[in-house]
This record gives sequence, structure tokens and C-alpha cells, in this order.
Amino acid sequence: MTHRLAPRAAVILAAGKGERMRSPLPKVLHPVAGRAMIDHAIDAVHAAGCERVVVVVGTHSPLVREHVARRLGESAIAIQDPPLGTGHAVLAAKAALDGFDGDLLVTYGDVPLLRAQTLKGLFAAREAGADVAVLGFEAADPGAYGRLVVSEGEALERIVEAKEATPAQLAIRACNSGVLLASAALLFDLLAHVGCANAKGEYYLTDVVALANQRGARVRVAMAGEDEVAGVNSQAELAAAEAAFQRRTRAELMADGVTMTAPETVFLSWDTAIGAGARIEPNVVFGPGVKVEGRAVIRAFCHLEGARVAADAIVGPYARLRPGADIGPEAHIGNFVEVKNVTVGEGAKANHLAYLGDGSVGPRANIGAGTIFCNYDGFDKHFTRVGEGAFIGSNSALVAPVSIGAGAYTGSGSVITRDIAPDALALERSPLVEKPGWAAAFRARKMREKASRK
Ligand code: UD1
Ligand code: MG
Repeated sequence: MTHRLAPRAAVILAAGKGERMRSPLPKVLHPVAGRAMIDHAIDAVHAAGCERVVVVVGTHSPLVREHVARRLGESAIAIQDPPLGTGHAVLAAKAALDGFDGDLLVTYGDVPLLRAQTLKGLFAAREAGADVAVLGFEAADPGAYGRLVVSEGEALERIVEAKEATPAQLAIRACNSGVLLASAALLFDLLAHVGCANAKGEYYLTDVVALANQRGARVRVAMAGEDEVAGVNSQAELAAAEAAFQRRTRAELMADGVTMTAPETVFLSWDTAIGAGARIEPNVVFGPGVKVEGRAVIRAFCHLEGARVAADAIVGPYARLRPGADIGPEAHIGNFVEVKNVTVGEGAKANHLAYLGDGSVGPRANIGAGTIFCNYDGFDKHFTRVGEGAFIGSNSALVAPVSIGAGAYTGSGSVITRDIAPDALALERSPLVEKPGWAAAFRARKMREKASRK
């Protein structure tokens, strides 16, 4: 049987003020694993197949509007003014979804751990015949969550908000995550009938469940883990979400064959990519945009961002890779070496105390301890090229723009200000003076002076 899936769209609610964050930054722009919560929400619905996405924002958060417009365009923004409840918020997205005829998913902008896989479970329930599908979870402490009132079969009869619930209903542990799926036509039709005669005086999205049942529509629940649907309302909850995200991502990487000696000390970004067989030692921090290939080793206490590390390379301990660091296969970047915007060729080594910024290091070149790429003149950045197999003596300053030819040597302590030919030795050094016996004579004179002062 061929089965044509309905087009999918999503409404992400983000019009709440997030006052409990006590932060000048709007709540949904706070990052989890280096990515704004609202972007995690958008990623999840995109990955679940929603082509159209509308984010509902309040008038109080121009920064959220700008952020979303930059990613999805102005047409992806609906403004809810004033915010009169979750049902009212979804209705605010109606105009932006004009002409859309398919399934509409509703999620929140402050639920950063929600995975596309879980949303797909909701779509599966819909495809199995549910007219409305609600994502529920078992709450350890149901507190203020809406309770799921489920009848004999599997039908969800209604959702009761905690403030409206009877003591018997409050005892229910199955709760509403806030994520819901229905056809756009049905959902907007039901919402038109939702009133606000309730404890909060708000238009509750959750009321569509009872209304759908009155019409004989099928309402079903798909379950998710509590961690995954947890919302962030305070700095403490943001930290808890970060910790949960880290735990989950470390576990996923280990399941994919990455070795971590002390995973709880490794901090990942939302997009950190590490290949099977790579080894990550304790206390490593990955900023955004890092790709580590299989069999590479990141030793203890490294900080990486915007960098690539190829197979069999060894980085650290105590190395810093900044954006544009591209470390080739079998290369070694050692302690207290900073690399920014430099391609390091296969088997090249910079093992101790160096700054390599804006340049390229050829295969098998050796960068001595204390080497500096002097890349900045106070106005512009300039490029340093170190050729294949070149040997940069310790404490060399390479003043860019400059090029060291393949196989050339620079003498220790040299300041290299012009291009050096392949296989040459470049030496910039004052003549060495040695004065025999000078130190002994100096000491003797000083001792005499000291004695005569007594
Ligand atoms: C809501 C649900 C509750 C569920 C809980 C899960 C309703 C009536 N209740 O309750 O069943 O257990 O979430 O966390 O839906 N928002 C707007 N505009 C508004 C109001 C809210 O955009 O006018 C957004 C908020 O920014 C937030 C989300 O909707 O992202 C949920 O709002 P919130 O006030 O936290 O709802 P709860 O009372 O927690
Ligand atoms: Mg809430």
C-alpha cells in the first residue's frame, strides 16, 4: 500500500516572559551545549520532518524575533500580544500558517532536550489513526503539570490543569508535556471553541482534548522520558538541562565507539563530532564546530573550538585549538600550543609552547618550542607558510607574511622577517661573545666590596 504522508508544520511557543531566569537575555536564547534553546527546538521539529515552522514570540522579546528571523525568515514569526495562554498562543500562529493543510505539531521553545525521535513517535500515533496525539510523561513529582485523564482503553479523555484538578486527579502521575499534534484544520477549529473561564483566566491549549472527544475524534498519548520534556524556567533548571544534555551526548558518543576515560569531565557542544576509536582523556572542553576523526587522541586539559583533528593525530595535554585549526593525520600538537586558522600537515609536530596563528605547516615539519607566528600588526592578520619537512628552531619568531621553504632550517632564537628558500638555513643572531674567567673575577670583586663595607 502506498501511503502519502501529510505535510508537516510546527508551532513553537516562546511568548512567555521567562521572568524566573532573572536574566537580561530572553530565556529561549540561553544556550544549552553552546546552542540557544530556541534553536534546539527548531532543530528537533526540522529533524521530525516539519518543513514550515512558526515561532510565537511576545512583544517583550525583540532579540528572540531577530534571532528567529535570521534563521528562518520574518514569515516564521508570529506575535502574541498580549499573551493569554497556550491556546491563544497557537491561534496567534494561524495567519502565518495560512494555506497550510497538513499536520501541525505544537512544542515549546524552552524544552531543549526534546529529540526528533520522540516527535516521530507522535507522528506515528497520528498515522496509526489518532486525530490528536499528545506527548505525555510519568512525573516523579507531578506538581503544577497538567494531568492526563485516560479512560479504559487508551483514549485520552481530557487534560486537567493542576489548578483545576480534583484531589483524585492530582494523584495522577501521567502528565502533559505540552507537545501536541493534530491536523491544522482540526486544531484551529477546536481552538476557536476554547474559552477562558478557568482558574488562570487563560485560553488553555489543553482544552482541545475534551473538545475533540466531544466530536468523537480519537485522542491518544505517546510517552516520553521525563528528562527529555523538562522545561527550563530558572538558571538552576538551565544548569540541570545542560548536565542532562551532556550526559546524554557522552553516552551517545561512547555507544558509537568513542573512548572516554572520565566522561563526566568532558564537555561537549551540540554539534561535536567524534569518530569511532578516538580517545578523549579527562577534562577536555569542546566548543562549537569540532570534528575529531577516529583514532585521534585528545589528551587531558585541552580546549577545542571550530577545529578538525584528523585520524591518528595527538593533541595535548594542555593544548588549545581555535577556529580554523585543521590538524592533519598523525600530527602532534603538544602542551601549551595554541593553534588558530592553521592547517597542520600530516605527521607535523608542534610539541611545546607555541602560537601558530594564520598559516600552514607542511607535512612532517617540526615546530620547535617557543615558536611564534607573528601574525598581527595591529591592523591586519598575515599568513605564515612553513614548507614540508622544514625545521623551525626553538624560540623562532616568524614575522608574517613570511614563507619558510620546504626542508629549510631556522636557527634557535631567530626573528625571520623575509622568505627563506627551500633547504636553506636562516639564522638571525648576534655574534656570541665568551670572556674567559670573567665570572670568577666578577664574584671576587663583589666579595671584596662587601667585606670592606662591614
Ligand atoms: C503547560 C500546560 C500543562 C503542561 C505544562 C508542561 C496548558 C494550559 N498547560 O502549563 O498542561 O503540563 O505546560 O510544561 O497548556 N506560552 C506562550 N503564550 C502564552 C502562554 C504560554 O507562548 O500565552 C508559552 C510559554 O513561553 C512556554 C509554554 O507556552 O514556552 C508553556 O507555558 P507555561 O505558562 O509554562 O504553561 P504551564 O502553565 O507550565
Ligand atoms: Mg511551564
